[in-house]
Amino acid sequence: MDPSKQSPSSLSRRGLIQGTLAGTALAPLLGAATASDAAGKAEGEGSAVRGGFSQDDILIRLHSPAVADPVKLLFVADTHLFRDDDRGAPYREFSGRMAKGYNQTKHFRTQNTTNPEACFEETLETAKSAGVDAVVLAGDIVSFPSEAAIEWVMARLEQTGVPWLYTAGNHDWHYEGMEGSSAELRSAWIEKRLLPLYEKRDPMMSALEVAGVKVLVIDNSTYEILPEQLEFFRQQAASGQPMVLCVHIPLYAPGRPVGFGCGHPDWGEAADKNFAIERRPKWRERHTDTTMEFHREVFAAPNLLGVFAGHTHRLSLDVLNGIPQVVAGANATGAHLLVEVLPMSVAG
Ligand SMILES: [Fe+2]
Repeated sequence: MDPSKQSPSSLSRRGLIQGTLAGTALAPLLGAATASDAAGKAEGEGSAVRGGFSQDDILIRLHSPAVADPVKLLFVADTHLFRDDDRGAPYREFSGRMAKGYNQTKHFRTQNTTNPEACFEETLETAKSAGVDAVVLAGDIVSFPSEAAIEWVMARLEQTGVPWLYTAGNHDWHYEGMEGSSAELRSAWIEKRLLPLYEKRDPMMSALEVAGVKVLVIDNSTYEILPEQLEFFRQQAASGQPMVLCVHIPLYAPGRPVGFGCGHPDWGEAADKNFAIERRPKWRERHTDTTMEFHREVFAAPNLLGVFAGHTHRLSLDVLNGIPQVVAGANATGAHLLVEVLPMSVAG
């Protein structure tokens, strides 16, 4: 996504926000989600599983009385790798724009010139040195599904030796201008190219359980949710176990533009500004009932500790019904999130 389209209300990099203080600290970010709403629920009101959260730049701590042992995750989205070779030659007319999109980037810490491959390798080193339990790769890891880029990613993930979960973003499966609906192209290119990244898990939805915490990944890279994905979320939520939800496209939050497009009431044909440049069919007229219901149920789930997303390329925090949704900066610049799920006894 074009960074110039970002909401000005995204967080400053060094912002420190305690979840239990969210009502006052976050009032300008909350839009229609009221301050008292966020503060009360973040303290665990009505939930035996949520125990508040804090954010310090890229470190997010989620506290839960239902967690016995700490769980550490590293969340990555939007690396936008563009490596290609002769095997990609037949697809150049579809990959040309994105192949030039992120060749050179500025490191999110140093502002020095860098590139997506260097940033991805650095991030995996961080995963190792931080001793994370799993890496979540939440889409747009590649800018188009070239064999060379996917082989490069697989080799690095396997070398790192940390378990990972992958879900696609809207670019991972997209060759711009290729015939077909987004859903058709997603299925086709997952099958042809992305499949190794899923390690036999269902590409549309999967869960990894780490020390009793469920890490859910759901593919919403078409902005929409399928009935079987809603059903999957319901089943996972019904377990009552603490959960985090990872998606590529952020879920609608009041006041946010349609980049926060999953469940956004204004999402649809009339709001689709990028269909021409991305050479794809326009979005449908409006969201399906399933997508809207998914959004409602996610933010009503008493055992959901947090939502993590990418796509906008900018670090941001919204709180809906006491549940934080944190969007990561682009890993093309080295940005990522460290997520710690902690028992209440070590809550700072
Ligand atoms: Fe994206």
